Amino acid sequence: MHNLMKAGLGLFGAALLVAAGAAGALVWAGQQSLDKDHGALPETLAGGSGDAVLGARLARVYGCSGCHGAALTGADFYGIVAPNLRRRARAWRPEDFARAVRKGLRPDGTSISWAMPSEMFAAMADNEIAAIYAHLRTLPAARDAQPVTLKHRLFKAWAAATGELIPNVVLVRATDAGPTVAPAPGTPQWGPYFTRQACAECHNHGLGGNGGQTPALADVIQIYDWLAFERLTTTGVPLDGRKLRLMGGVGAKRLSHMTAAERRALFDYLKGLPQP
Ligand code: HEC
Ligand code: HEC
Repeated sequence: MHNLMKAGLGLFGAALLVAAGAAGALVWAGQQSLDKDHGALPETLAGGSGDAVLGARLARVYGCSGCHGAALTGADFYGIVAPNLRRRARAWRPEDFARAVRKGLRPDGTSISWAMPSEMFAAMADNEIAAIYAHLRTLPAARDAQPVTLKHRLFKAWAAATGELIPNVVLVRATDAGPTVAPAPGTPQWGPYFTRQACAECHNHGLGGNGGQTPALADVIQIYDWLAFERLTTTGVPLDGRKLRLMGGVGAKRLSHMTAAERRALFDYLKGLPQP
C-alpha cells in the first residue's frame, strides 16, 4: 500500500477512535446522571387497599396502558422502555409505587425521566394510586414484554447526557399534593383534577395546546355539540369524520373507559373554559 494512503488510513482510524471516545464519554456522563441518588422523598398513601375494579379503568383512562402496553407488562416508548408494571407492583410497597408515579422517583432514589409524565400525575389522589396498584396485583405475574436491550441503555444514557431526557425530579413541584380521595365528577375541583391526568400530557398544562401538535381545548370544543363529543370520546372519530393521528386512539382506547358521568362532566367543564 502507498505510504501516504497508509498514513491517511491511520489518521482516519485515529479520528474514529477519538469520535468513539467522545461518544463513550457522553454515554458515561449520561449514565452517571441516570444513576444519581436523589434520596427518597417521603411519601404516604392514605386509605388502605385500593379498589382494583376502579384501578383497571383508570389504568386505561390515564394512559398507563397506552405506554406500558395493553397488558401493562412493558413496552417500547420511543426508544425508552416503559417497564412491566405488574412486576413493579409486586416488588414495591404501595408508598414506593406512589412515589414513582407522583414524584418520579424510584425506591433507590434515582429519578425516572419525563418520558413518564409524573408531572401530570403529581396530584393524583391516594385512592386512585391505591386502585391502580391493587389492579396490578390482581393481574397474574408476567415476564417483561419488552426487555431492556443494550440499544435501549445506550440511547437512554445518550439522551440523558444531551439533556433531551429531563429527570422528573426537576419537573415535579414539591408543593404538588394529591387529595386523599379524588373529587366527584361535576364538582368544581373535578375538571382541573381530571384533565391534568387525562389530557394535559398532550394538550399541555392549562389545556392551551402544544405548538402545532395539539389544539387548545377551550378553542376546539366550541365546534362540538354533545353527540359529536360523545362519538369522539367513545370511538375516536371527530366531528368531521376524518382520521385523527393520535386522538383517534385516545378516544377509542382511553376515553371510551370514562363513566357516563365523567364524560358529561368533561364536556360541561371544557365548554365552560375561558376562551384564549
Ligand atoms: C406517555 C407515556 C406514559 C404514560 C402515560 C405512563 N407511563 Fe409510566 N413510564 C413511562 C416510561 C417511558 C417510563 C420509564 C421512564 C424512564 O425509565 O426514565 C415509565 C416509568 C414508570 C414507572 C417507574 C418504573 C421503573 O422501574 O422505573 C412507574 C411505576 C410507572 N411508569 C407507572 C405508571 C402508571 C401507574 C401510569 C398511569 C397512571 C403511567 N406510568 C403512565 C411512560 C408512561
Ligand atoms: C396522547 C395524547 C393525547 C391525549 C392524552 C389527549 N389528546 Fe386530544 N388530541 C391529541 C392530538 C395529537 C390531537 C390533534 C389531532 C390528532 O393529530 O390526533 C387532539 C385533538 C383533540 C380534539 C380535537 C379533535 C378535532 O375535531 O380535531 C379534542 C376535542 C380533544 N383532543 C380532546 C381531548 C380531551 C378532552 C382529552 C382528555 C380527556 C384529550 N384530548 C387527551 C392528543 C391527545
